[in-house]
Amino acid sequence: MGRQSRWRRVRRMGAVLGAGLVVAYAVTLAGFELAEPSVVFDSIPENPFVSPMPPGFLWGTATSAHQVEGGNTLNDWARFEVVPGNIRGGRASGVASDHWNRVAEDVDLLSVLGANAYRFSIEWSRVEPREDEWDGAAWDHYREEVALLREAGVTPMVTLLHFTLPGWLADRGGLTAADFADRFERYAREAARRLGSEVSLWCTVNEPNVQMYQGYVEGVWPPGFRDTEQASIAFAGLVRGHARASMAIKDVNPQARVGAAVNLIVFDPQRRWWLPDWIAAREADRGFNWAFYDSVKRGAITFHLAGFPEIDEPMPALEGSADFFGVNYYRRNMVRFSPKAPGLVELLQGPGPLSDSGVEIYPEGLLRLVRRVWDRYGLPIIVTENGVSDSSGDLRPDFLRSHGYAVSRALEEGIPIEGYFHWSLLDNFEWSEGFGPRFGLYQVDYETLERIPGPGAGEFHRLAQLVGRQ
Ligand code: FCB
Repeated sequence: MGRQSRWRRVRRMGAVLGAGLVVAYAVTLAGFELAEPSVVFDSIPENPFVSPMPPGFLWGTATSAHQVEGGNTLNDWARFEVVPGNIRGGRASGVASDHWNRVAEDVDLLSVLGANAYRFSIEWSRVEPREDEWDGAAWDHYREEVALLREAGVTPMVTLLHFTLPGWLADRGGLTAADFADRFERYAREAARRLGSEVSLWCTVNEPNVQMYQGYVEGVWPPGFRDTEQASIAFAGLVRGHARASMAIKDVNPQARVGAAVNLIVFDPQRRWWLPDWIAAREADRGFNWAFYDSVKRGAITFHLAGFPEIDEPMPALEGSADFFGVNYYRRNMVRFSPKAPGLVELLQGPGPLSDSGVEIYPEGLLRLVRRVWDRYGLPIIVTENGVSDSSGDLRPDFLRSHGYAVSRALEEGIPIEGYFHWSLLDNFEWSEGFGPRFGLYQVDYETLERIPGPGAGEFHRLAQLVGRQ
């Protein structure tokens, strides 16, 4: 009898505990679900700008030096891309899109598109080919480019570091060199001096999260390491470099507005009922999306990611080093908790339509991410890159419209977005993917280097008129 009732009590306790666990699981799951309202765009209006665009809204395109200029032989990528196996298709950047020699023609294209802004980068290895030696002619080239843009009524936005490092700096460790931030600050100060008050929008670094990940975790970009310790040091170098460059630019030109462009990815759980997938998605989001600007906000280089050495290094110069948040948005990934995957996180493509590169086209993600940026940092936002790999060009008109709609919806909610830069003005060298992916509003015939307007060009122009007319 006694034994039976004890057994019954144990069973009752087990049932209560089990029910408690089920409730706790359900409540935690509901907490994740409710943390962010879901967004679905049912249909995109012909005029995606649902309310007046703010005066002065930047409607532009973006490129980067090494991808379009051609003839860049003195940086780390020039060395990397001639190693067999490093570039899909085996073709190095070479003359790329010949932007260096066709810059006037390309500025005309911006006018034809109705763009009022252009984001481009300075190739550090051109202006400082050897340590401590400025190349005056190379600086003049960029000064002329800025002058051409100004004459065309196009606001320049200049990026200082878009992935490529001078060979002399790469030789002693690049991002992990002890004096990386010193060298970068010196270069930034010189750029601000040479381009003067003609440039008031600056991006210090482009996608520090991607550069670190591809170069030091995946090892598929220079320097080709798979080393989490070096990865943390490289990341810290980029954060430190940003702060120092920002200070230098503002010393020279107090009116300048400075930020960094970060690649943001929507990480959604693959199985919404499975808590480990949610937790893995959160971890990916925290480590990839926010580590850079969290450091800026905290005034301390901060890096806490499972499997990586931790960094917590106060740097007061970080505070106030960013006047805006540059968002580069391309994709959503579904996340699966997987004990076998590196970092326990397995990334899968989302369920929507795919680009040529197999990346989901997910415009709602842009709205979701800018909401989070605004919530987290309260900084004005510039969409510094957004685009689609699409060799036919047929996806691009809808892509432009739907992402323009995301921007407009965000503005309606009171999120201060100051500009949108489409990647890219023209087809170009897509890093380790070579010349395969085509992102251009203008298609480039790589035999003749002729620029041919793709279907997106007309739509970009139509939207430019709508931006301007509001
Ligand atoms: C971004 C890079 C840019 C280009 C596009 C397609 O991540 O910043 O250089 O490669 O992707």
